Amino acid sequence: MSDAVLYTDNLTVQFGGLTAVNGVTLACGRGQLTGLIGPNGAGKTTFIDAVTGFLPNNASGRVVLEGQDVFGRVPHRLAHDGLSRTWQTLELFDDITVRSNLDVASQRLTFAGAVRDFFRPTGDHGRVDEVLELLDMHDIADRLPRELSQGQRKMVGVGRALVASSTKVLLLDEPAAGLDKAETQGFGEGLRRLVDEGYSMLLIDHDMGLVLTVCDYIHMLVFGELITSGTPDEIRNDPQVISAYLGHSGGAS
Ligand SMILES: Nc1ncnc2c1ncn2[C@@H]1O[C@H](COP(=O)(O)OP(=O)(O)OP(=O)(O)O)[C@@H](O)[C@H]1O
Ligand SMILES: [Mg+2]
Repeated sequence: MSDAVLYTDNLTVQFGGLTAVNGVTLACGRGQLTGLIGPNGAGKTTFIDAVTGFLPNNASGRVVLEGQDVFGRVPHRLAHDGLSRTWQTLELFDDITVRSNLDVASQRLTFAGAVRDFFRPTGDHGRVDEVLELLDMHDIADRLPRELSQGQRKMVGVGRALVASSTKVLLLDEPAAGLDKAETQGFGEGLRRLVDEGYSMLLIDHDMGLVLTVCDYIHMLVFGELITSGTPDEIRNDPQVISAYLGHSGGAS
């Protein structure tokens, strides 16, 4: 897995008697968009929670980032080391501008930074400008999130994860949920641009159209187990995927 920027080895998460993630070994390729799919309750969010250090008492196994075993590190250390994530529920500060939302995120990684930011919001303007440029958001930088379309708001959410220090891998949990077809397509093109710029990402989404269009490689979880992995073409034609996921209407959360 030398070309993997991030991989897990036998990652397992248990909540009491429930094994939510069961011995998952998978890789995120460098400079690639990797998809993680599976029905509701398959363990996708739990997988990201464990990778990003939020389940220290429930998780076991290995998480390797840039060749280093980072399992057991606390979330803010992992964020500092380059693991950035978005949350299934998008939370933006609605009363401050898009630029300020990014400023705040860029300062959030340390407690000192958060305190400093509270009293004297500075932000890393160089990095914020770079991300605004990258996401083509300069024209909305001075607007309030509530004035934006849902698709633009989601992109601000991605921007908040991107400005956080030296992002090596971006983990996106259903970033396109709630978007209409056109917005999803625009959002997917935005993600693809970021990957073409060299970012590595893991994308969780129920929208198979989006996942099959934008991802380079896709893994599928069912009841916490990795049941298949492949290119979009392989996944599209995989009987296990068809029966477990594509065959029925699937979740749409
Ligand atoms: N903190 C927790 N305590 C106990 N059980 C949990 C906890 N978090 C998740 N679970 C359980 O773990 C399993 C996996 O949940 P998870 O949220 O990871 O699924 P998911 O694949 O992200 O689903 P969705 O597509 O609906 O977001 C589910 O059975 C869920 O009820
Ligand atoms: Mg989830």
